[in-house]
Amino acid sequence: MATYADAFSRSIDDPDGFWLDAAEAIDWITPPTRALDDSNPPIYRWYPDASLNTSANALDRHVAAGRGDRDALIWDSAMVGEKRTYTYAQLLDEVARFAGVLAAQGVTKGDRVIIYMPMIPEAAIAMLACARIGAVHSVVFGGFAAPELATRIDDAQPVAVVTASGGLEPGRVIEYLPMVRDALALSASAPATVIVKDRAQVPGSAVDHGWLDWDEQMASADAVGPVEVAATDPLYILYTSGTTGKPKGVVRDNGGHAVALVWSMKYVYGVGPDDVWWTASDVGWVVGHSYIVYGPLLLGATTIMYEGKPVGTPDAGAFWRVISEHRASALFTAPTAIRAIRKADPEAAELAKYDMSSFRTLFAAGERLDPDTFAWGTETLGVPVVDHWWQTETGWAIVANLRGLEPMPLKPGTATVAVPGYDVQVVDAEGNRLGADAEGNIVVKLPMPPGTLAGLWRDEARFRSSYLEAFPGYYLTGDSGYIDGDGYVFVLGRSDDVINVAGHRLSTGSIEAVVAAHPAVAECAVVGIHDDLKGQRPSGYVVLKSGATISADDLRAELVALVREAIGAVATFRDVTVVEALPKTRSGKILRKTMRQIVDGEEYTVPSTIEDMSVLEALVEQLGR
Ligand code: COA
Ligand code: AMP
Repeated sequence: MATYADAFSRSIDDPDGFWLDAAEAIDWITPPTRALDDSNPPIYRWYPDASLNTSANALDRHVAAGRGDRDALIWDSAMVGEKRTYTYAQLLDEVARFAGVLAAQGVTKGDRVIIYMPMIPEAAIAMLACARIGAVHSVVFGGFAAPELATRIDDAQPVAVVTASGGLEPGRVIEYLPMVRDALALSASAPATVIVKDRAQVPGSAVDHGWLDWDEQMASADAVGPVEVAATDPLYILYTSGTTGKPKGVVRDNGGHAVALVWSMKYVYGVGPDDVWWTASDVGWVVGHSYIVYGPLLLGATTIMYEGKPVGTPDAGAFWRVISEHRASALFTAPTAIRAIRKADPEAAELAKYDMSSFRTLFAAGERLDPDTFAWGTETLGVPVVDHWWQTETGWAIVANLRGLEPMPLKPGTATVAVPGYDVQVVDAEGNRLGADAEGNIVVKLPMPPGTLAGLWRDEARFRSSYLEAFPGYYLTGDSGYIDGDGYVFVLGRSDDVINVAGHRLSTGSIEAVVAAHPAVAECAVVGIHDDLKGQRPSGYVVLKSGATISADDLRAELVALVREAIGAVATFRDVTVVEALPKTRSGKILRKTMRQIVDGEEYTVPSTIEDMSVLEALVEQLGR
């Protein structure tokens, strides 16, 4: 592959040829004779006549190639002070046996399995075991509470839940089993099978609930081989926040996903099979799916799985320790983690304690990499700090600085250029393409490349209405921004009610639903306001019912507790302000964006359709900076 310009134009002009060539990096059972199925626009499929097994590509083929002794996964837990390394041969053995455990419970191709686990190797083993038998996993982030887990169980209708006794957060133990029990009780589709990995540090075990114990089952399990699945069969469902309270079940296929991830490891990240790669995220997020588990293993590299935080476990040198101890060549994390390290250790005194000679690149995504953090990271670490932009829906980078293809000058505030396969454009509200530097909706001309969402789980209507109908022929990213004269894409933020808190994607709608259910609340709005550390944080504005007598402090405490119980600690909902009224348009739409601008002290926009200007003026008086 020559230059970025060549690769990009070929990917757009000849997607079939481009992605058939890329498909050679995968071991197929039936190799594809064509890449793109465009027979049913605007819905596209990749590798319609091919078959493979994703776990065989992530494990078996590396062992067969004589790399069985190569480290596949290094688990490093700053929470329990333990480390464990699995070679490819060992990881294959664990995965094949856990696939046997699932098969013995009657789990077969196409069945769904919910994985609700902390950052332990068994989470990756369970994912790969599902892939091995063609079951569709749906990993639920451990920071979500029982009702969120129940919503996902109801939607996915799994035949089994795989979990652990719990997770560890600084200063506190998260017991998962009571949450699983409550979620199953809330759910209309509770599966009969629950398998529990017991962790010594967390109370509770499978026997307390009459569930199956991971270790016991593994002791007597038969290893099973990989089954053949169609490239277009689903590999996983990953729920993500939409604008409503109901999460969207993003469906990923097997074939396009495998091709895209291997391509991205090589050309977006510039790493090879001999690299040690570290993504400091969580398996519950798309970043964890693609770049803790599947990407590095499909490539045959070594992946680090870290249980801990960037700071406080035990100090702001935690990331540098992991890099130096395991000789990592790259780290991928969220900007908020870099900001947390900088805040705790502005002079980077911790960094000097470690041998960072293996370290080549720091990748950041999940939220915008602000120019300040970019500059601090670049100066402090002395390596390129590379922003890249993507979403749960796409599964891999839409805009990046392609380190393995043609690294370009890094500019602050931009993730660089459109990745081959993504025809990124900016359009106005009517769908007219905008010129350089003009801000608008960021869209991707269809088809999107392999690995991007195949749809929403059993909800094609929502798939179409959420992404494909706003601008026919284009995928709506939900982000706004602009492209400069050099083709650099600047992503400025969401244009919908999705917010981004510490790199975690949350829906203000789901928090509003919880707040609105409080008996003293007449109506409310939750907006994402600026936060120096976490990028954004949710802030609630509440109108009380007439006659409500609750004090502001009590109301705040009750609402915070309610959101924590209903959504989880990860919502970090702490701000509640009682207001007289909410500003609205004449059709009743709450002016959330205007409210956010007022609170953030930005110049605010007042739509001509505003219902009552005096409400807005009162708000400026009360909240404006
Ligand atoms: N299980 C249970 N609870 C969890 C959890 C999990 N897996 N992850 C986070 N939480 C809890 C935290 O304990 C915290 O609870 P608290 O309100 O009782 O303190 C709450 O959710 C908020 O967590 P978080 O927003 O992560 O804040 P923090 O103060 O614990 O840590 C950072 C701040 C910046 C260190 C942290 O957000 C971080 O490392 N972010 C990186 C983000 C990331 O990797 N994103 C993935 C996308 S790339
Ligand atoms: P998620 O689906 O959780 O990965 O969140 C995706 C959203 O996070 C995107 O739509 C953006 O709003 C935001 N995001 C992710 N990466 C970046 C980035 N590099 N720059 C700006 N925003 C980002």
